[in-house]
Amino acid sequence: MTGAASGIGRATALRLAAEGARVFACDVAREALDAVVREITAQSREAQAHVLDVSQRASCFAAVDACLARFGQLDVLANIAGIGMPRWERVAAVREEEWRRVLAVNLDGVLFMTQAAIPALLRTRGVIVNMASAAALKGQVYTSAYCVSKAGVVSLTKCIALEYAKQGLRCVAICPGGVKTPLGSAPALPADPDMSQFAKLLPLMPLAEPEEIAAAVAYVASAEARYMNGAVLSIDGAQTAG
Ligand SMILES: NC(=O)c1ccc[n+]([C@@H]2O[C@H](COP(=O)([O-])OP(=O)(O)OC[C@H]3O[C@@H](n4cnc5c(N)ncnc54)[C@H](O)[C@@H]3O)[C@@H](O)[C@H]2O)c1
Repeated sequence: MTGAASGIGRATALRLAAEGARVFACDVAREALDAVVREITAQSREAQAHVLDVSQRASCFAAVDACLARFGQLDVLANIAGIGMPRWERVAAVREEEWRRVLAVNLDGVLFMTQAAIPALLRTRGVIVNMASAAALKGQVYTSAYCVSKAGVVSLTKCIALEYAKQGLRCVAICPGGVKTPLGSAPALPADPDMSQFAKLLPLMPLAEPEEIAAAVAYVASAEARYMNGAVLSIDGAQTAG
């Protein structure tokens, strides 16, 4: 799994480990990742830390190789690593390097990890769980690169599901709304923001705990979700219901 050092990924690593999974925990943030793995092993569960940058294709393939070398098989790929917009900006002001970075981590990263993992997942009739966002499902002001990256994740999820369903590989996207994590913290708005548009982003319910999203990952990854494939699962406190 990726993004294991913080937030939803950390909660997912702990949850899956508690359920008995051997967790190959990947992230770019070495120290925080090591701390999560220590937390898991302190509970007599099994986990291995591996530093990767999901925006780098070779790094993703090396991670899957290292996972297979350590555990011998791969049953679940949870693509959770992601970044927000460095600055919230209007479309006209988004810098090319910022656009490319958000797409590289949030979308290319999911593609590269998936490409690396598919051969192993076909052997186990495994599952891919992609962390998209409520931002994938409707337009949202000042965060175009993020929205586009997550819409891409939803689309890629459906393509994967269709292409591999007959071979028993499932792929599901989860779309959280606001979650209490560093990524979900208050943004710096552009100058003169349209507050009537921004107000639409305010959650109707209090923010979710990362553990609530992790619980959904655990369910999607489980045999009980055998028939859930190509699905887009909203966990957003009614944010996209209206
Ligand atoms: N927090 C929210 O409100 C929210 C809502 C919807 C979707 N999401 C999505 O959930 C996922 C997890 O986010 P979070 O809220 O837990 O944020 P977070 O910042 O707590 O965790 C993100 C993790 O991804 C890692 N990461 C970033 N770039 C990376 C890279 N290039 N390679 C490998 N790892 C990298 C970070 O080091 C971090 O550990 C993200 O994909 C995010 O877009 C979050």
